[in-house]
Amino acid sequence: MKIIKTENYDHMSRIAANYIAAQITLKPDSVLGLATGSSPIGIYKELIRRYQAKDLDFSNVTSINLDEYRGLSPENEQSYRYFMDTNLFSHINIQKNRTFIPNGLEPDPQKACADYDQILEDCGGIDLQLLGLGNNGHIGFNEPADYYEKGTHCVNLTQSTIDANSRFFDSMDQVPRQAYTMGIQSIMKARKILLIISGGKKAEIVKEAFFGPITPKVPASVLQLHNDVTIVADSDALSLLS
Ligand code: GLP
Repeated sequence: MKIIKTENYDHMSRIAANYIAAQITLKPDSVLGLATGSSPIGIYKELIRRYQAKDLDFSNVTSINLDEYRGLSPENEQSYRYFMDTNLFSHINIQKNRTFIPNGLEPDPQKACADYDQILEDCGGIDLQLLGLGNNGHIGFNEPADYYEKGTHCVNLTQSTIDANSRFFDSMDQVPRQAYTMGIQSIMKARKILLIISGGKKAEIVKEAFFGPITPKVPASVLQLHNDVTIVADSDALSLLS
């Protein structure tokens, strides 16, 4: 596990964008696993800037997102499909039909999850998976639990995640209570993992997840077992590490 310490959020975003840019440059038909949340927004801005400067070409890239809220439509401004379209896809030359996100409107969880696992298989796996870190150590929407879920599954969000994500919604009762998320095995199968972490609020969980025991109670701790993980984090997020 390689840890790169950056000065602040913007610096983290530029360094992490370097990794994604290198991946696309070296393998133009890369399959990118993408993430939502506030952490990757700066990276997406940087990738758009490089695309506009003609330094990056997304025309052969495939993207597979980690997760989606159950019940939200692509038009809903809080859906992850809407997030990805507005923060990245609509500004670059990726083929829209090569951008995958779980179908939040599929009412049958089993079907939604099986369909997504099929997409992952059809794409031949993920070359580079971008991850953020939830305040409780979740990755995607894999919440702290007694065991790891392997494939895509429907998850009941924990109160801590509902509280953390309520900042994006008008009121607490609008925050979805369930989501479809890629499972831990799918994430661990990615050939490379790029984890981005910013801010002092994450310092405690960073220490726990990457220097504590490997346990499904801190889902991100499983990344200690992956052989190609790069963490790009700002100094505040790393402040509790010696
Ligand atoms: C959500 C997403 C995660 C993301 C996490 C952290 O719960 N499902 O993929 O990593 O938020 O978000 P932020 O980057 O805003 O701290």
